[in-house]
Amino acid sequence: MSLASVIHSEQKLLLPTYDRHKILFERGRGVYLWDARGRRYLDFLSGIGVNALGHRHPVIQATLKRQAGRLIHTSNLFFHEYQAELAAQLTRISGLDRAFFCNSGTEAWEGALKLARSYARVQNSNGHKPKWRILALDNSFHGRTFGSLATTGQRKYRDPFAPLLPGVSFVKFNDAEDLQRHFDGSVCAIGVETIQGEGGIRPIRPEFLQLARKLTKSTGALLILDEIQCGLGRTGRNFAYQHYGVRPDIVTVAKPLAAGLPLGAILTTSRVATAIHPGMHGTTFGGGPLACAVAMQFLRLMEELIPHVDETGECFRAQLEWLKAKHYLVREVRGMGLMLGMELDSADAAKRVVNQLMERGILINRTNETVLRFLPPYIIEKKHIDQVIGELDKALSTVSSVRTGREAHKSTTRSQR
Ligand SMILES: Cc1ncc(COP(=O)(O)O)c(C=O)c1O
Repeated sequence: MSLASVIHSEQKLLLPTYDRHKILFERGRGVYLWDARGRRYLDFLSGIGVNALGHRHPVIQATLKRQAGRLIHTSNLFFHEYQAELAAQLTRISGLDRAFFCNSGTEAWEGALKLARSYARVQNSNGHKPKWRILALDNSFHGRTFGSLATTGQRKYRDPFAPLLPGVSFVKFNDAEDLQRHFDGSVCAIGVETIQGEGGIRPIRPEFLQLARKLTKSTGALLILDEIQCGLGRTGRNFAYQHYGVRPDIVTVAKPLAAGLPLGAILTTSRVATAIHPGMHGTTFGGGPLACAVAMQFLRLMEELIPHVDETGECFRAQLEWLKAKHYLVREVRGMGLMLGMELDSADAAKRVVNQLMERGILINRTNETVLRFLPPYIIEKKHIDQVIGELDKALSTVSSVRTGREAHKSTTRSQR
């Protein structure tokens, strides 16, 4: 099938939810993808943080093959071999006690919100009014279902679907005073992305996170961290919160967990888990044997790769900083490990740079309008970073020279008038 015929059919048959780049991918291997014309792309986006082991990893392929030949789905009415084992791996690396498996990031976040409300009720079952308010952050992103949308601090996602879940207030990002102002005994949870992803690769400040921990502890409210994009090795630690020395009550993960198959998880403490009983929450597909078998292998490989992520992340960041010093278009470089963002001075410049890189066979994307987002697979090598930096350098020079040319043209035409 050609790209043109796929576009034609999709335009007729799909809900118009995506404004896709006009590339038809057919296959991948390692850090590369190939389109239908046989053109190779260096993948520095990993399917938005999903393909952390790159494409067609031999261990993942073998596990998929083996498990697909044994058992794909059972439903959660029965046991299979892998959920407990996968939960053991996740609880060991997170320092939490229990897991629930679902299919996606937004489902994990929904479940976390339900858990927080239910826990608040259990705690206040002695006649007190249960805590029910949720504090979320401006500029955050937690997913597309109603609870996740209600806690997403960007109006463009929320407004078309109002009214949403009541009881949510937004706190200014990284503003400790604002957090203090919004917090009181009616709050059941504070929900935070440890590093905002869709919001433009913005790490939470340690003082803010520590205050959120202190306030929640003081009233028995919960601290929920969304590590759907920044967790599971992405920052050079198992979880991004491990850079901060803060232990949350609930963590949500998804994207890379099953190396491309849909799988999400809620991780929590034994204490919070007392608020859930059979029948209160569940899923048909979540935590099936195929996805869990793959996730167990992913976590094993991820742990081996963490020092490499740390090292390559440092090297990549240093080179991005070098570009910042060289190009006036670059405002800031942010992030940790291999979750990095480069903020440019305009949305137009960011768009042009992304397109130029794509034309030169490199995939990145733009988030929060002005931010170039880099989420490469954990297996990248220094030579891949050098290639991306070289192309970025050229693209930034082209975009700034086009701009200088345009400005010069404008001022000459103005002076001729
Ligand atoms: C931090 C964060 N939370 C939640 C989600 C939603 O995940 P999903 O698209 O799997 O529902 C995303 C997706 O980008 C995310 O980055």
